[in-house]
Amino acid sequence: MNLILVGPPGSGKGTQAQRLEEMHGLKQLSTGDMLRAAVASGSKLGLQVKAVMDRGELVSDEIIVAMIAARIEEPDCADGFILDGFPRTVPQAEALDKMLAGSGLELDRVIEIRVDDDALVARISGRFTCATCGTGYHDTNKPTKVEGVCETCGGTTFNRRDDDNAETVAARLEAYHRQTAPLLPYYRARGTLASVDGMGGIDEVATAIDGILENQEIAS
Ligand code: AP5
Repeated sequence: MNLILVGPPGSGKGTQAQRLEEMHGLKQLSTGDMLRAAVASGSKLGLQVKAVMDRGELVSDEIIVAMIAARIEEPDCADGFILDGFPRTVPQAEALDKMLAGSGLELDRVIEIRVDDDALVARISGRFTCATCGTGYHDTNKPTKVEGVCETCGGTTFNRRDDDNAETVAARLEAYHRQTAPLLPYYRARGTLASVDGMGGIDEVATAIDGILENQEIAS
């Protein structure tokens, strides 16, 4: 089972992808996480993309497509993957089609998480992640059960993202509406698109996604 989660910044793609990974053994492939790891490592790629990410703009299709093409060939993707944050432009979607065809793989579902722009800033400004294992939390919507302790790994250090500020979020939203939203008709025309209302709580959104997947092979 190979899935795409698409939605604006803060819509819950990462939150739902982490849950699907735990529940169904699919590999979460977050292009944002890969790029942040490259920035943190100080690699050539990281240096190339940092300023673009800090402005809330999209990294070039060429860089992103090469990164994903290498990643989906790795053994941990053999049982299926969830693309979180990719594709983000129609050229990226076209490149993905070619990649999958070349590897004999299929795309089973594209799930759009719909959230009103006004709700996104509150979600993004409360977000933090475990510095050790990457589990995502929110100050009010998904706090750690024990204050200051990650419930997945017991880590006690947390990160907040450099691009989670009001100015950059506005640019990321603009990029979503202008460059990423055209993917919706692209996948609707192929019959793979399904949409969920992302305005409910995390568990409600999870139930809606499970409802979409219930007829697919990973249904439990
Ligand atoms: P990326 O890391 O992909 O960021 P994004 O798309 O802006 O999405 P986010 O990670 O901000 O949000 P999310 O939808 O995962 O929400 P989350 O689950 O965390 O990309 C960052 C940058 O990298 C881009 O700006 C670009 O520069 C570059 N980039 C990445 N991919 C690229 C590509 N393909 N092409 C070009 N450039 C690329 O949830 C947010 C918060 O809300 C959390 O705290 C969570 O706990 C909470 N929450 C989640 N769901 C709910 C709910 N239902 N109710 C209440 N709270 C909720």
